[in-house]
Amino acid sequence: MDAPRFPNLHVSQHPLVAHKLALLRDRSTEPKKFRELVRELSWLLGYEAMADLTTQPITVETPLEPMAGAELEPKVGLIPVLRAGLGMVDAMLELMPSAEVWHIGLYRDERTLKPVEYYNKLPDAATVQVCLILDPMLATGGSSSATVDILKQWGAARLKQISLIAAPEGVATLSAAHPDVDIHVAAVDRALNERGYIVPGLGDAGDRQFGTFAGPSSEPGHDPDDETAEVVRRLQRNLAGEP
Ligand code: PRP
Ligand code: URA
Repeated sequence: MDAPRFPNLHVSQHPLVAHKLALLRDRSTEPKKFRELVRELSWLLGYEAMADLTTQPITVETPLEPMAGAELEPKVGLIPVLRAGLGMVDAMLELMPSAEVWHIGLYRDERTLKPVEYYNKLPDAATVQVCLILDPMLATGGSSSATVDILKQWGAARLKQISLIAAPEGVATLSAAHPDVDIHVAAVDRALNERGYIVPGLGDAGDRQFGTFAGPSSEPGHDPDDETAEVVRRLQRNLAGEP
């Protein structure tokens, strides 16, 4: 993707990320292995995404003498987007055991591809300064834009989206709506298909983690609906800068 057009987009160049992502995409990777890979990739992407967090100086007493050390300055919140974001939380908590975890429940309407909110227990005012939104797939960008809207209204000062795979259409939508949000991904794929799935992608990240396969009619490549296909075409025109 055109990097200068999206200065907020960070695509990992780490060989371990590339290796694990190929295993994750493989259709023969079963849910147990898939969950392990989601966790490992989240750890690696999270590590990269937090490289610019600020620290404050502290004094540490080693067994030999005091020395100048550092501790993380901002309070960090992890925001897994249900369901698929759940698989990314444990890895991030390993990196930052004191992070707060606030869940947001959204599902994507299959026809309109619009996000539908069903769970939000955020308190009235923000309790953290940096929010890391965890969702493996950034497809149309609707779910992530809606999550950012919710978190900005809550009062979160700084936001980062961590996803495993993005579609160009989703990067464009999120960046246009929220250019201040950093996007960290393992890969940006070719496009969305007519059902709004990322291609080549990995299929449905929630179903593959949790083993919930509802049969051929719910598969990512099956029978596009006219309304859905038009939503995708509109996003693709936006991406190309066409009216
Ligand atoms: C998936 C995914 C994202 C969303 C991305 O969730 O985990 O939340 O789709 O699509 P978008 O960028 O077009 O909004 P889904 O709606 O399938 O719900 P699930 O996690 O409960 O399976
Ligand atoms: N949600 C997924 O799980 N996969 C996609 O490709 C798009 C949305």
